[in-house]
Amino acid sequence: MTPPRSWPLAPVLAHRCGGLLAPENTLAGLAAAAEAGCGGVEFDVMLSGSGSPVLIHDETLGRTTDGHGRVALTRDENLRALDAGRWFDARFAGERVPTLDEAAARCISLGLSVNLEIKPATGQDDETARVVARRAGELWAGVALPPLLSSFSELALEVAAQLAAHLPRGLLVERAPPDWLQRCRRVGAAALHADARYLDRSTIIEARKAGLWVATYTVNDPGRAQTLFDWGVDCIITDRPDVVRASVTRHRS
Ligand code: G3P
Ligand code: MG
Repeated sequence: MTPPRSWPLAPVLAHRCGGLLAPENTLAGLAAAAEAGCGGVEFDVMLSGSGSPVLIHDETLGRTTDGHGRVALTRDENLRALDAGRWFDARFAGERVPTLDEAAARCISLGLSVNLEIKPATGQDDETARVVARRAGELWAGVALPPLLSSFSELALEVAAQLAAHLPRGLLVERAPPDWLQRCRRVGAAALHADARYLDRSTIIEARKAGLWVATYTVNDPGRAQTLFDWGVDCIITDRPDVVRASVTRHRS
């Protein structure tokens, strides 16, 4: 089979916006990634209690904001009032939970390519994918670098395929299950996004032979990142975009 066309995002993506350079999933993180010279980011998108797509990783607010309770039960006006930066460092006090619209606008203006992870709250796979894929298609319409949508939820990816067929998709896995290729095919994924702790060279080779891109997370050691690139991965997602981007010299794109 012919090798896949080239990976459409930056080869090194900052995890959850800015990795460890800023509070996760915030606009400050996007600025930090760009400042570190990182050409792209990964971030997580979930629905608020008002049904709006917002950047947040956990189903609950307590770890990354000064609020508490479930994101899916918190209306936009209450979400907007929360501080999403102070838990990380007082310098970031006043950071908010960004909307997908805000994050898209900032990424486009900073020239950051985006791996948008659809992160449904429990039982909201269909609805989350519906809202996020449709809105992503609108927000990046006409932009040269459209986002790649990834998810651990195969249902979310199937729905995204219907709502924004033109946006490439990646199937997220921790340890790749034996039938990972069939699963990728079933959801029409162009990429396999695998946890680097379990990713082996033969899976990378097999994926590339099958015409898939391979992204891997979360790699903070530059030596390990280089090895993975040498094995054929297309993309490293890292909490240390500053260190990894500066030290990796050989990658595919
Ligand atoms: O997309 C890679 C990575 O973000 C998946 O794990 O839990 O950090 O969203 P998590
Ligand atoms: Mg993620």
